[in-house]
Amino acid sequence: MRLKHSYESLIRYNSAMESNFWQNLPKPIVGLSPMDGVTDHPFRHITKKYGNPDITYTEFTSVEGVCHGATQLLKDFLYDETQRPIIGQIYGTTPKFFRQTAVILCELGFDGIDINMGCPAKNVAHSGAGAALIKTPKLAQEIIRETKAGIEDWVNGKTSKDCEDITSEISTLVEKYHQQLPKANQIRRTLPISVKTRIGYDSPVIDEWIPNLLEMQPAAIALHGRTLKQQYGGQANWEEIARAAALAHQTPTLLLGNGDITSLQDAQQKITTYSLDGALIGRTAMGNPFVFKPKEMPSVEQLFRIAYEHAQLYEQSFHTDPRYNFLPMRKHLGWYVHDIPNASQIRQAIYRTNSSQEFATVMKEYGFEVI
Ligand SMILES: Cc1cc2nc3c(=O)[nH]c(=O)nc-3n(C[C@H](O)[C@H](O)[C@H](O)COP(=O)(O)O)c2cc1C
Repeated sequence: MRLKHSYESLIRYNSAMESNFWQNLPKPIVGLSPMDGVTDHPFRHITKKYGNPDITYTEFTSVEGVCHGATQLLKDFLYDETQRPIIGQIYGTTPKFFRQTAVILCELGFDGIDINMGCPAKNVAHSGAGAALIKTPKLAQEIIRETKAGIEDWVNGKTSKDCEDITSEISTLVEKYHQQLPKANQIRRTLPISVKTRIGYDSPVIDEWIPNLLEMQPAAIALHGRTLKQQYGGQANWEEIARAAALAHQTPTLLLGNGDITSLQDAQQKITTYSLDGALIGRTAMGNPFVFKPKEMPSVEQLFRIAYEHAQLYEQSFHTDPRYNFLPMRKHLGWYVHDIPNASQIRQAIYRTNSSQEFATVMKEYGFEVI
């Protein structure tokens, strides 16, 4: 019996090793940073197809929302196989909800789970979530511990149906998505946990904050070089990121830098200068999937055809949603037409469109064939 037990643990250990995609990534890692309202399923698909970042994350999703039955949040967890390795990002303050949402993310076939400890938005940080966790390191640790426990629950045979706070409506949908996964991604494997955070709350506190995270042995930490107080103002402080990397290098945890990267070359230069394992690119990737490619510069026509493809995928992905609306797609289309003469005039017309077809018509009026 004892022997059997240790054999099973060995199998579990091996599968845990195999499923830690972070270790198998080419280094340095250059990934797409998660952005709420931006990096949804269609955006990630397009970015992966034309830019091929090493990793992608979902938009952050509230564990309180999921565990209070907000079915519409499952939309944030939509992805397709082309987006792997794909990391589900969650946020909140309630450890037991992290545990249950971790079971959902495992069942949905994600490659990793990321915990957001960096969001400065008032509606998030005022509840103690996101970057506010920098002030409550014991709670931050408890959240990581419970997320790991949720992954263990999954490995040991639990599903979302066994989670006390998950509604049957949500668990039924999760089960349905699970059945649609390729068989290889339905297996019960241990997922790696990572954390995305900032350098401090109102001032940098790398030496206090980062060791609290490293103690919990996350596979990776992505660090945005601003404090919560800075929001998105000023400049990202890469010296502080380098200090965190020096601490992480004494452990197996990978450290990715983030903040204000303007190109792939800039990312590579910062990775070398600050001795990092990788970097994440956020805002520069808006309407710009080629930012992850070393030399490729698309023609404007090519970029506009991609914009049209993006809009079509958006429609296909979400049109059955009762709350479907084209509005969130308009800003992406605006970003794609950023760099051309008459851009502001075209953008104004784009901001009035309600379908990919209408976008194509506007573009034609300005002399661009996108279909
Ligand atoms: C619109 C927007 C939404 C964001 N949403 C998230 C999010 O859901 N999760 C997260 O960890 N960071 C989020 N961020 C932060 C970015 O991932 C990134 O850390 C930040 O934008 C700095 O990187 P950049 O200068 O390359 O954009 C968001 C940023 C923006 C601009």
